[in-house]
Amino acid sequence: RQRQLTAVDVQARKGGAPLVCLTAYTTPVARLADAECDVVLVGDSVGMVLHGLPSTLGVTMDMMILHGQAVARGLDRALMVIDMPFGSYEESPEQAFRNAARLMRETGAGAVKLEGGAAMADTIRFLTARSIPVMAHVGLTPQAINTLGGYKVQGRGADADRVLTDAQAVAEAGAFSVVLEKVPAALADRITETVAIPTIGIGASAGCDGQVLVIDDMLGLFTDFQPKFAKRYAELGQGAQAAIAAYAEEVRARRFPAAEHVFGDAT
Ligand code: KIV
Ligand code: NA
Repeated sequence: RQRQLTAVDVQARKGGAPLVCLTAYTTPVARLADAECDVVLVGDSVGMVLHGLPSTLGVTMDMMILHGQAVARGLDRALMVIDMPFGSYEESPEQAFRNAARLMRETGAGAVKLEGGAAMADTIRFLTARSIPVMAHVGLTPQAINTLGGYKVQGRGADADRVLTDAQAVAEAGAFSVVLEKVPAALADRITETVAIPTIGIGASAGCDGQVLVIDDMLGLFTDFQPKFAKRYAELGQGAQAAIAAYAEEVRARRFPAAEHVFGDAT
C-alpha cells in the first residue's frame, strides 16, 4: 500500500499529471474518494452542503474538526486538507497559527486551506515557517461574498491583474498550491504558467495543474443550485428520492417488511 501523500508531494506535481481533488465530509465518502484522489478537502462547503447554512460564513471550528476527524478515518493515501473557517485566521498570523495548529492536531490533516491573496501573504509565510503547509484560495472566495457582492466570476478584463497578483503573492509566501475559483479560463492558464506552485481549478480551466469539485455537487446530491462549473457525474439525489418513495409505498401497502426481513421463533 502506498504511503499517504504530503503537501511536499503535491507541490512537486507542478506541471505534471493533473492532481485529482474532491471534497469529503464523512468517513464513507472519504473512503470512496481516497481510491481515486490525490487530495481530499474537508471544505467549509460542508456548512451549505450538509448543514443547510445559506453560506459558508456560519461554519465554526468545531464543525470543521468534527468533519475532519470523520474524513481522516477514511483516508489512507490522499492528502487531507482542511479549510480554515471564516473568522479563524484573518485577524493576525498568530490567530491563524493557533487555529491551524488546532485543526491539524485534532484531525490529523496534512495541510490547511485559507482564502485570500496578497492580504493573506504574511499569514501564509508565518504558518509555513512554523510547519503548517498552506493551500491558498484566490479568485472567487466564498467567505468574502459580502464584500465581493455575490458569487461572481473574478478577474475579468482589467481585474485580471489583481487575481494574478494574488496568486503570485501566495506562491511567493510559501503556499504549496492554490485553488483558482471561478476565473476566466485564459486567466487561469496565465496564472498556471506564471506561478511556481500547482494551481487547482474549480470553474477555472482544464489547463490547471489539478481540479477540485464539491462531492455532493458532482454526485447530484446537492441540488439547491447548480453552478455552471459543477458538472454532475451522477444523479444520486434522484436515485435516493426514488428509493425513499418506493419504501414509503411499501410501508403503506404493508409489503415491507417481507418474509425475508422478519424473524421466526427458532431461526
Ligand atoms: O469549501 C470547499 O468545498 C472549497 C472548494 C470548492 C475548493 O473551498
Ligand atoms: Na472552502
